[in-house]
Amino acid sequence: RETSSSIQEDFMHCMSTQFGEYTRSFEIIFNQDSSLYSYILQSSVQNPRYLNATTPKPLLIITPFHESEIQAAVFCSKNHDLQIRVRSGGHDYEGLSYLCRTPFIIIDLINMRSIEINLEDETAWVQSGANLGELYYALAMKSLVHGFPAGLCPTVGIGGHLGGGGFGTLLRKYGLAADQVVDAYLIDVNGRILDRRAMGEDLFWAIRGGGGSSFGIILSWKIKLVRVPETVTSFTVLKTLEQGALELVHRWQYIAPKFHEDLFIRILIVHVGNGDQKTIHANFNSLFLGKIDRLIPLMNQSFPELGLRAEDCTEMSWVESTVYFAGFSKGSPLEMLLDKKQLFKSMFKAKSDFVTEPIPFHALEGIWGRLLEEEMAIMIMDPFGGKMNEILESEVPFPHRNGVLYNIQYMVKWEANGVMASNRHIHWIRSLYKYMAPYVSRSPRAAYINYRDLDLGTNKLQNASYSEAAAWGIKYFKSNFKRLALVKSKVDPGNFFRNEQSIPPFPTPG
Ligand code: FDA
Repeated sequence: RETSSSIQEDFMHCMSTQFGEYTRSFEIIFNQDSSLYSYILQSSVQNPRYLNATTPKPLLIITPFHESEIQAAVFCSKNHDLQIRVRSGGHDYEGLSYLCRTPFIIIDLINMRSIEINLEDETAWVQSGANLGELYYALAMKSLVHGFPAGLCPTVGIGGHLGGGGFGTLLRKYGLAADQVVDAYLIDVNGRILDRRAMGEDLFWAIRGGGGSSFGIILSWKIKLVRVPETVTSFTVLKTLEQGALELVHRWQYIAPKFHEDLFIRILIVHVGNGDQKTIHANFNSLFLGKIDRLIPLMNQSFPELGLRAEDCTEMSWVESTVYFAGFSKGSPLEMLLDKKQLFKSMFKAKSDFVTEPIPFHALEGIWGRLLEEEMAIMIMDPFGGKMNEILESEVPFPHRNGVLYNIQYMVKWEANGVMASNRHIHWIRSLYKYMAPYVSRSPRAAYINYRDLDLGTNKLQNASYSEAAAWGIKYFKSNFKRLALVKSKVDPGNFFRNEQSIPPFPTPG
């Protein structure tokens, strides 16, 4: 059996053979002896729960500047039976972009983050290593009437986000980030660089929401920009139990998915603290694509119970709203979007659900009580409806469309490291998830791939089986799962690009 240092040497030799004598490999390949190895490994990790002394580490980290370096890495990894973990923004909830239980390398796209905006045809080419904040900032430098319907956290990577769907405050008006992808460049298992025409419509369909990492390495995406008004309005209204929070949450379920599609109001129920220091409230957090004078009458008509006043609202440009929704205080400079410090970095476990019938009041009371049991627990409710109702379930692999009232994300965070502490919080969130079963979607109990949850099931890494993977695959993709597996059999039948929840090939008959 080869030792890890001999595998490394062989791999480096392979890389230099690919590049000739004057290889740049020393600038882009880092092994555990390199002084930069730990720094790069940790740099974008969002869930530190997965980075400790006992978690497996990559033999090498490669930070390519050029696609030929990725082609070489794919070729050499196959030759040396190494797995590849591709990392764009590092926000995978279960750490799958930097963790693997068999010998592996990381291809970290940190140096591939260019953004080219073309206002003439209202598109942009964005490399996978860029993050959402960089995209929003670059857009703002060119136009204040163009936006992009993606997520809220600026450090989320384009690669993983678009690969799993991606949604944020423009969801009800324009759908998902993946709905706006019109072309892409991918490196396939044979090291070929393919654009939409060359990869064909089936593979192009699969990469727009089928979950990153199953079909190849996406280098860049061509996205369609969307129109936003020059002035939009944001507000956040906090309600405690005494101020009728639960009655408002209950009411919101009936109306938020039916609001005018310019109006997006999500709810965050946040509990922080313990003992006498507890605070819990429902936070009604909104983006309206218009000005206050249009919003107030609309709210008086659609959601008078919230009692929204003009002074609760702030007019701003759409890009300023991305700073606001990222959690920075009002008036923060746009440059905050470029800050790579992750505001929300902490150990966490999350789960998701889709709701198709309003949750009864007594069950909401039960949730509220359960959130109080943890020190840092959040439940985020993102309303669907609007444009999401118009897009077919089969349009891209993300199937949660017409009929979904809202998405729930449950999240628990903690600071103390260690297995005992983690187990306690994980046990709590699993029990909340069990409690929710009667109130959320059934057959399947659906989940969102970008809020990855390995509790739903995992592949056997050496021998992924379609029927076993269907247990979690159908929750994420419903009937699109089979089509994803059929695409996989065509483009990567040997299942080279794989992880614990990658799409397995569809079994061949016989
Ligand atoms: P990361 O680099 O970890 O990749 C995720 C997966 O995609 C991995 O399996 C990885 O191997 C694969 N991958 C990455 N780049 C690839 C490439 N170029 N080619 C092939 N495979 C690739 N979601 C949402 O919809 N709306 C939101 O508002 C938010 N907000 C949010 C906030 C915070 C703090 C976190 C941690 C996460 C979110 N998310 C979210 C979820 C987010 O969309 C999801 O975790 C994405 O997969 C993250 O993409 P990254 O590139 O950052 O992750």
